Amino acid sequence: MLDLTPPRASLDPIEIASRDEIAALQLSRLKLSLRHAYENVPHYKRAFDAAGVHPDDCKTLADLAKFPFTSKADLRDNYPFGMFAVPRDKVARVHASSGTTGKPTVVGYTLNDIDVWATVMARSIRAAGGKAGMMCHVAYGYGLFTGGLGAHYGAEKLGCTVVPISGGMTERQVSLIEDFRPDIIMVTPSYMLAILDEFKKRGLDPRASSLKVGIFGAEPWTNSMRSEIEQAFDMHAVDIYGLSEVMGPGVANECVETKDGLHIWEDHFYPEIIDPDTGAVLPDGEMGELVFTSLSKEAMPVIRYRTRDLTRLLPGTARSMRRMEKVTGRSDDMMIVRGVNVFPTQIEEKLLEIEALSAHYQIVLTREGRMDEMEVKVEARHGAGDAALAAGKHLAKRIKDTIGISAGVNVLPPEGIERSQGKAKRIIDLRPKN
Ligand code: DLL
Repeated sequence: MLDLTPPRASLDPIEIASRDEIAALQLSRLKLSLRHAYENVPHYKRAFDAAGVHPDDCKTLADLAKFPFTSKADLRDNYPFGMFAVPRDKVARVHASSGTTGKPTVVGYTLNDIDVWATVMARSIRAAGGKAGMMCHVAYGYGLFTGGLGAHYGAEKLGCTVVPISGGMTERQVSLIEDFRPDIIMVTPSYMLAILDEFKKRGLDPRASSLKVGIFGAEPWTNSMRSEIEQAFDMHAVDIYGLSEVMGPGVANECVETKDGLHIWEDHFYPEIIDPDTGAVLPDGEMGELVFTSLSKEAMPVIRYRTRDLTRLLPGTARSMRRMEKVTGRSDDMMIVRGVNVFPTQIEEKLLEIEALSAHYQIVLTREGRMDEMEVKVEARHGAGDAALAAGKHLAKRIKDTIGISAGVNVLPPEGIERSQGKAKRIIDLRPKN
């Protein structure tokens, strides 16, 4: 693979500033952000008052822990525009989550917010190995989802030529990759696998494609999946993280030269890790729920937003800013099977160890009496033949031996599992709701 390490001189100075400089900038921005939220969003005024705290109480970064959390429910309760801190006519754009349950959550941006977003997104693409002049194929969905437009503005800002294809129409994705010869692809890792299938279906060699780097996120994926994609396409696969409530894609990104977790763009997003049960702030290095406070957002500041994503904070390596480890999963996606906690990513790691199995999988949860049952549906690789059956048994044993749960494994023929065009649906929960 090519060495795509960006020259040091091309980085934003703050990316490699001293920790003291970063902390000083964070504290001055944090004070402003708390004040902006308190003075302009009735929800924050009520919440701070109820907790007995005032923006003036924030004298050090550690004082942030005195302030109340914000959750998705707060955004829903203030639907659609109640969390905005500027008059509606200063809001240049809105995005919204799909809202699988109930109302969507709506987020807003001023023109300045969109510029900051494009800046951190451009920084993310550069960290991944992108640079001005490259062509960037954006297959994240365009629309209310932040993926497409977020990636688009960042790639333009970096100086790339953008192909705004959005998600879906997999045949056309492959035709345009072949014809336009992009250097970069931005897409969910699960949809990248669907694109890979299409290459193979047409008898094209994905390793001969023009792609040099893929910037994959919007859903959890493992280092095993990284190897799978890197080997298939002979390109770098780099992780990008973000969420609409905090901004969109580009809150954190891996650096291509280290691929050791995602550097958080701490000059705009202040991270904390908390114990999800007690809310206590945990020291760096400990696993817990990721919480973000925006440091520069105008239209919709968020204070201590609980992401539900589980990870830990690590010191910087390729940059001075701290890293977050690859996200294990959302607390909502944690399955408790006979008392053992398990995430889809743990299953993904195990199945990718087995040659005859492909990376397409789903987990079906059912309940027999009071017992939860887990079935892993996975596809055989093309040409696996009889090895697929043995592979299913092998996977069940690996899951039992390493994760400690008995799961049924159902090996389907190739193409047996529905392809996602965006975020993959890994868990099908058929347990009765109670
Ligand atoms: O998924 C923003 C995004 C778009 C990120 C494109 C990266 C690339 P939401 O739809 O609001 O925003 O979903 C946010 O997706 O809380 C995580 O649970 C999950 N997620 C996002 N990136 C990653 C990642 C976009 N790299 C939610 N690894 C977040 C694991 C991720 N999970």
